[in-house]
Amino acid sequence: MTSISFEGRVAIVTGAGGGIGKAHALEIARRGGQVLVNDLGGDVAGRGGSASMAEQVVEEIRQAGGKAEANHDSVATTQGCNAIVAHALDAFGRVDVLINNAGIMRNSTLAETSDEDWDAVIATHLTGSFKLTRAVWPHMAEQGYGRIIYTASSAGVFGNPMVGGYGAAKAGIAGLMHVAALEGEAHGILCNGLMPNAVSRMAMQAAADWSGKLDGFETTMPETIGNSMQPEFNTPLAVYLASEQCTATRGLYSQCLGRMAHVFIGAVDGWQADRQAPPSVEEIAEHWQEISDTGNGFAIPLSATDEHAIVLSHR
Ligand code: NAI
Repeated sequence: MTSISFEGRVAIVTGAGGGIGKAHALEIARRGGQVLVNDLGGDVAGRGGSASMAEQVVEEIRQAGGKAEANHDSVATTQGCNAIVAHALDAFGRVDVLINNAGIMRNSTLAETSDEDWDAVIATHLTGSFKLTRAVWPHMAEQGYGRIIYTASSAGVFGNPMVGGYGAAKAGIAGLMHVAALEGEAHGILCNGLMPNAVSRMAMQAAADWSGKLDGFETTMPETIGNSMQPEFNTPLAVYLASEQCTATRGLYSQCLGRMAHVFIGAVDGWQADRQAPPSVEEIAEHWQEISDTGNGFAIPLSATDEHAIVLSHR
């Protein structure tokens, strides 16, 4: 097995002051990468801030002989995202890897979600991932090399109650990743998504917020599933995706209780209407089984254009 090294590579890991991001930052640094450890240092809802969370992780990396710089700009603003990339360039001269990991959580039912909570969650997860992508892009494109990891979530891709803004942001991140991957291929910028699972500060908050409020909805109890809910279980997959050895792009990968798996969006073969005139509503009802059945054939379009080609290939 060839060992995977990050010697000569520079990585930005956002939200790396604790939880899953900290595990990513420590592992890349352990493998020789220089890491900009970003963390706002606020609470789980994204309020407040301090330099200490990022600084403690940098201290840990330096004590182990690694190279890292602390940054506590916010990914939730344009200025913050630009400052994070500028900091990495100033400190290390290049950026090879961006791991969009920072996140906040504000749980409530859709009917009870305030504009402020919705906006803050979207700004941190989705808009922050976009703005950091935009800020690193010219540097990665110029050097013809880049690896961008987007942190999605099963709560967005598959859905969960009480996480409206969070789920929308995480599903949006999967869409953003698909677009970035298609645009990045010509520049050597490979983009993939991670759907992690871990007992972290955020997960504990979610469990507390959901407790007793999700009638008939079962939640997994962290104590019954052992070590595989430790943040570190997510890191090997993320670090592989961030490495030179990984040539995959446009993939979404789930780490769940130690099981690593490709998650994809596909379309079933469906029912083909006559192409000369729109079908009637009654015809939709009549063909509902073919339209909705996931047990027959399906395809995984690699772009919107590819979906047209797939449908035409069926004639
Ligand atoms: P965490 O709360 O320990 O880590 C998130 C970090 O992001 C915190 O250290 C926080 O200070 C930082 N952060 C928040 N707002 C920021 C901002 N504006 N700028 C910079 N940093 C900011 O939680 P965890 O679980 O480690 O989450 C990491 C990522 O994984 C998040 O994107 C989360 O949504 C995602 N995720 C976690 C899952 C889990 O089971 N723990 C499941 C699915 C996704």
